[in-house]
Amino acid sequence: MKTELLDASGAARAAELLRAGGLVALPTETVYGLGANGLDEKAVARIFEVKGRPQDNPLILHVASAEDLDRWCRDIPAEARALTERFWPGPLTLVLRRRPSVPLRVTAGLETVAMRCPDHPLTREVLRLAGVPVAAPSANLSGKPSTTTAAHCVHDLWGKVEAILDGGPCRVGLESTILDLSVFPPRVLRPGGVTLEQLRAVLPETELDPGLVRPDEIPKAPGMKYRHYSPQAELRLLRGEKERFFDYVNSLPDAGTAVLCYAGEEGNFPGKRALAYGREDAPETLAAGLFDSLRALDTPEVALICVRCPSEEGVGRAVVNRLKKAAGGKITCL
Ligand code: TXA
Ligand code: MG
Repeated sequence: MKTELLDASGAARAAELLRAGGLVALPTETVYGLGANGLDEKAVARIFEVKGRPQDNPLILHVASAEDLDRWCRDIPAEARALTERFWPGPLTLVLRRRPSVPLRVTAGLETVAMRCPDHPLTREVLRLAGVPVAAPSANLSGKPSTTTAAHCVHDLWGKVEAILDGGPCRVGLESTILDLSVFPPRVLRPGGVTLEQLRAVLPETELDPGLVRPDEIPKAPGMKYRHYSPQAELRLLRGEKERFFDYVNSLPDAGTAVLCYAGEEGNFPGKRALAYGREDAPETLAAGLFDSLRALDTPEVALICVRCPSEEGVGRAVVNRLKKAAGGKITCL
């Protein structure tokens, strides 16, 4: 299939392709999404095919504004209004009870639907022009790191989708926070751009899903149970002091070992491939750089990537969550 690469003037074309049942990679403030008309079951089915996504993993429905919630969801609690007022458009996805008009193909058979209003001017324009809710998972092949630039989308999806809309690099760099409002107290199923602290400032009773707290619990967001965000290489997540980390990494063979480190630390691993993904004291820079760096290190020569576990404060919680998933759930203490 011929894939069109669209630039900032391509919103109308993207909307047209979506309305015609096509797949379009769309920029959002979190990661790129692989969009299809959420009411078109055939188009939605193609998302699963193209990504190689397990059928039991539901999709997020993207809308142009908070007013669209009532069209696709029912029994919407007052908490949802308070949250959309504060965080939409933005990196917060709300799980609510679906109306029958939302295809089960989108929700993978669930009675709830994940709703999100992304904060990227180009994609908001696409959503407005398309006039339909857009089902979109992250625009990577299943299991691979999410896509945060149009070049990543080209790498994973070229020749498989109708178009890729280039909206520049994603500002947040990690997927949205998923908050389940179909239960009380509200529960964070996936940490992301909106932090637990920010949510609790609006809804103090907000809880973290046990699947994120206790290692023996399976997370409720079906997608979180799969190995994820993974480059070809083994990713080893290490917790401990900076010097111990340097010593540990330097004791490993140079060939095949790479290091994902903090800015300014690159010089501490002579002979090894070291790549900084952000600043230790600024977790939002780590979030923004993580997937691009994982992809950059994903070369046949790299067999092992060592990363020191960042602090879980603020958006750092989401960074650690993704690193842990990429490391197969394991943190090694130094
Ligand atoms: O930032 C984002 O959320 C990006 C951009 C493109 O919007 N999208 C994204 O989609 O990350 P995806 O498909 O990669 O992750 C969606 C997650 C999956 O873990 C899925 O299981 C969960 O949301 N999910 C979707 N619908 C759900 C539901 N009704 N209940 C619980 N979890 C749900
Ligand atoms: Mg994903």
